[in-house]
Amino acid sequence: MAIRNLRYGNDEILKKKAKDIEVIDDKIKELAMDMMETMHKFDGIGLAGPQVGILKRIIVIDLYEEGMQFILINPVIVKTKGEQLVVEGCLSYPNQFGKVKRPKEVEVVALNLEGEKIRLKGKDLLAQALCHEIDHLNGEVFIDKVEEGTLETITPEEKKGSK
Ligand code: NI
Repeated sequence: MAIRNLRYGNDEILKKKAKDIEVIDDKIKELAMDMMETMHKFDGIGLAGPQVGILKRIIVIDLYEEGMQFILINPVIVKTKGEQLVVEGCLSYPNQFGKVKRPKEVEVVALNLEGEKIRLKGKDLLAQALCHEIDHLNGEVFIDKVEEGTLETITPEEKKGSK
């Protein structure tokens, strides 16, 4: 496993649409493991292919609770319910946070690393993470969805203090 380089801010790759994964080969499995490790290293709860420079439809999520770690290939949101206004950040925009409107619940269809079709229901933070990461696959970043006047830059010192 290896830590991959993160893409930040104005990197053009973050605005591009990622392509479906046709074959889940060893290279994709290695990418998935590397993404998980990279996300953990930077204390993230989600990471998408484009954020490590790979324009493929793969996301990883870890909410650091039992049963809340996911590797999803070609994920698609098939249903949404309700709404939540939540504070959001992104590993590609370190120290920036803002409020974003997200569905309260989502249902996602995807493939797992074994190539099996899975259906996943998520609410609250999991719904938020799924939407945020799937947005990345469509070249959409949270910073463009932040409610006006809510974007804040928090310095690493302040961040430490708030933990
Ligand atoms: Ni992000």
